[in-house]
Amino acid sequence: MTSSPTADVWEVMSTARSIRRFTDEPVDDATLERCLEAATWAPSGANAQAWRFVVLRSPEARAVAARAAAESLAVIEPVYGMTRPAPDDHSRRARVNRATYELHDRAGELTSVLFTQFRYETASELLLGGSIYPAMQNFLLAARALGLGACLTSWASYGGEVLLREALGIPEGWMLAGHVVLGWPRGHHGPVRRRPLSEVVFRDRWDPTHDDVAVRRP
Ligand SMILES: Cc1cc2nc3c(=O)[nH]c(=O)nc-3n(C[C@H](O)[C@H](O)[C@H](O)COP(=O)(O)O)c2cc1C
Repeated sequence: MTSSPTADVWEVMSTARSIRRFTDEPVDDATLERCLEAATWAPSGANAQAWRFVVLRSPEARAVAARAAAESLAVIEPVYGMTRPAPDDHSRRARVNRATYELHDRAGELTSVLFTQFRYETASELLLGGSIYPAMQNFLLAARALGLGACLTSWASYGGEVLLREALGIPEGWMLAGHVVLGWPRGHHGPVRRRPLSEVVFRDRWDPTHDDVAVRRP
């Protein structure tokens, strides 16, 4: 069982795959706080730490997350050609899609954390992202180490951005970078599925035989 807590950093990194199905057991404050503290250990440009993490726990806040999740699902369904799988479809794709639908359908029941980053006018959005995504990754790895499941989502993008910003009172100067859902996993972690090094590492020169970037759905 690979969902057991572990302090082995290699095991954590190689098995921290997205978890989208959760038990009904709530995530206690102390456990959540450990993940949030790990997020604050991440690097950021000039060590500005211009991040704020909004924990969505109340029924009202979770209801907004549910609406944002529905908006996001409506956008990603056609992009990935996703449909609700037939009950007798046990293919890998059907299993992933089923879990994705469950995550979005149950959004209103789950704990989630919205990661925001102050928008410095001097930096590009990509550079600003570089100051918040490491915090999110630390949070995801800490969750994995503790045996929690988590999934980074785009709920704070698309139509969800306005919904979340208004409902949670997030000022204009702050960017909504990502929305992470977490809970105790139903199912288990890893191993992650990734392209081999031979396809993504080039030696001394760009390799055009491996510069395709088509989205690969499982
Ligand atoms: C920027 C970003 C946005 C994502 N948005 C969603 C999302 O809206 N819904 C979802 O179910 N998964 C989302 N994911 C999770 C990815 O689908 C997942 O990380 C990827 O397929 C690799 O699978 P793994 O994490 O299980 O290894 C997102 C991941 C990233 C990095």
